[in-house]
Amino acid sequence: MENCCLHPRQWRGRRMHRITADWSRSLGKSSLTVRAMDCVTSTAVLSLLLGCVGVFSLFKLLRCLRMKARLQDAVVVITGATSGLGRECAKVFHAVGAKLVLCGRNREALGQLAKELAASRASEVQTHTPRMVTFDLADTGATVAAAAEILQCFGHVDVLINNAGVSYRGTILDTPVDVDRRVMETNYFGPVALTKALLPSMVQRRRGHVVAISSVQGKISVPFRSAYAASKHATQAFCDCLRAELEQHGVAVTVLSPGYIRTNLSLNAIAADGSRYGVMDETTAQGRVPADVARDVLAAVAKKKEDVVLASLAPSLAIYLRTLAPALFFRLMASRARKEQKPKDS
Ligand SMILES: NC(=O)c1ccc[n+]([C@@H]2O[C@H](COP(=O)([O-])OP(=O)(O)OC[C@H]3O[C@@H](n4cnc5c(N)ncnc54)[C@H](OP(=O)(O)O)[C@@H]3O)[C@@H](O)[C@H]2O)c1
Ligand SMILES: *[C@@H]1O[C@H](CO)[C@@H](O)[C@H](O)[C@H]1NC(C)=O
Repeated sequence: MENCCLHPRQWRGRRMHRITADWSRSLGKSSLTVRAMDCVTSTAVLSLLLGCVGVFSLFKLLRCLRMKARLQDAVVVITGATSGLGRECAKVFHAVGAKLVLCGRNREALGQLAKELAASRASEVQTHTPRMVTFDLADTGATVAAAAEILQCFGHVDVLINNAGVSYRGTILDTPVDVDRRVMETNYFGPVALTKALLPSMVQRRRGHVVAISSVQGKISVPFRSAYAASKHATQAFCDCLRAELEQHGVAVTVLSPGYIRTNLSLNAIAADGSRYGVMDETTAQGRVPADVARDVLAAVAKKKEDVVLASLAPSLAIYLRTLAPALFFRLMASRARKEQKPKDS
């Protein structure tokens, strides 16, 4: 009732005062509560986050283990196992317990690798003694005969890794078509013949996996590599058809397109006159370590990826540029060709 004696303005003032006091008191209490609740929520959110990360990592680890387990005891054929990437692939697939059929032309080099694999007993899984089949991919008859030999090794093939290949360095103007044919025989017709010879058995079992080691140059063409880029483009095209046609038969297809790898590829490349190029290109020398690329190959095969580019930012962007801004890409390649003049290093 005291309020009635007050002037309305005073009354309003007091009421305001009381309200503010109540409010600040409750605010004091609630800010404590809010802080406590904040603490609880942030702890909860943090543990939820950590939990998620934990579950996710565990899930990834399990998936990785399961995928590697899928390759345990799988029959894996690797062409070009005598050197570079193929050799490193042999090591990683052997370590996860695959039954390997190692292919190449050099029997001695294959034997050396088999000995090395036998000596590396560091793996926790049961490993298998690899078999060896030697043949020249440029010889279709020999390749078809080799396919029969490959099938006899373990009775069937689960994964065929078409890795063997030869590179080329030269100007189109100076290169006779015979040289183009040689590159195509090794990089394209050989793997196609081998694949076709092994496919019926895969289709019959409704199981199988064909893997191609292509190249970034299967997606974009760089000057002075015409025959090589053409063979890799052809590989990509063949595999894309193969994937579509064989899906209904339970056979998977993976195309891997690496950038530069530190191997003997440029040393072993064919020059315009058909001779061995014999130069270690700087780009190749600075490329990725083959063992690292082999681990990426293993992961892609285990996950049955369809198409993987294993390259750094610049080549990956170049692939997009070729599609999205072809005129710009062509101008860049022409300027590169002008600068290089000779098919030396690129
Ligand atoms: N290095 C790179 O920068 C790079 C980049 C992208 C893609 N790649 C690709 O990676 C794959 C492996 O090459 P790499 O770099 O490891 O080169 P590499 O060290 O020269 O190995 C090539 C392999 O292919 C085999 N080979 C060559 N011609 C053959 C033939 N006519 N018949 C049967 N086997 C043959 C060789 O074995 P024999 O000599 O015992 O026959 C050798 O094992 C190739 O397909 C290549 O195109 C390489
Ligand atoms: C390159 O060739 C040499 C000689 O044949 C060999 O010793 C070496 O292991 C090869 N390098 C790779 C990465 O395969």
